Amino acid sequence: MIGVFDSGIGGLTVVRELTRQLPGYDFVYFGDTARTPYGTKSPETVIEYALQDTAFLVEKGARLVVMACNTASSVATDHLRKQFDVPIFDVITPAVQRAATESKTGRIGVIGTRATVNSDIYPRKIGEIDPRIKVYSAPCPLLVPLVEEGWMKKPETTMIVKKYLHPLKVKQIDTLILGCTHYPLLAEIIQRKIGKHVRIIDSSIGVVRSVKDFLKDNPAIDSQMSRDGESHLFVSDVTAQFDRIARTTLKRNRTLENVKLMAS
Ligand code: DGL
Repeated sequence: MIGVFDSGIGGLTVVRELTRQLPGYDFVYFGDTARTPYGTKSPETVIEYALQDTAFLVEKGARLVVMACNTASSVATDHLRKQFDVPIFDVITPAVQRAATESKTGRIGVIGTRATVNSDIYPRKIGEIDPRIKVYSAPCPLLVPLVEEGWMKKPETTMIVKKYLHPLKVKQIDTLILGCTHYPLLAEIIQRKIGKHVRIIDSSIGVVRSVKDFLKDNPAIDSQMSRDGESHLFVSDVTAQFDRIARTTLKRNRTLENVKLMAS
């Protein structure tokens, strides 16, 4: 199975993309809804949670793990790769490569949680590809709770998005990376507020493409993946909200269970 984790419902945008590009494959998902958001926590805490999340997925049979969380990807990727034998995919690398290739003006915006923005990972990785590119980052700490609350269409959310995007708009970016897997659920509002001419990069598309390429190049691992078209969803706190989003985001067979993670 392909394992996927996030702090909550955001990673479902990655599972949705996985089911589009890899239909038939089975997924096991862990959403840490009891401890969300991760983006306001210290790197040490996020690393600890990411290790626990991955251990859980591996125990459930994941043979490959996608960190469908930019916050965890920004601080915990090396730790997970050291600790686990299974291939670990982060959401940041593919998004950075695509943004650097597609930006014409070399002015890229990034929005993410405070932890992701503070880690400085996007400017660093983009700078490694092309040091001439200017990266403007804006933390958007209210967006994850708004999405977890299901406030995707509220006028208050539109107002907050507009306020957060303003500093990037004045920098005349031509590309905007959604550096948090919750944000594709706000993609429409974000596109409207940043302007039609700005290309939006949704990190789920790139990470799924990398997983697909990897499986093609590694048939021995690919053959270990079960393919009954099922998604097994686990959360650390079942909420009506998670269930509703899972239903609308994933149009396929799925199970949903509550689980308490033990400290590693
Ligand atoms: N969706 C996650 C991310 O991509 C986590 C957000 C959070 O829990 O703060 O960063």
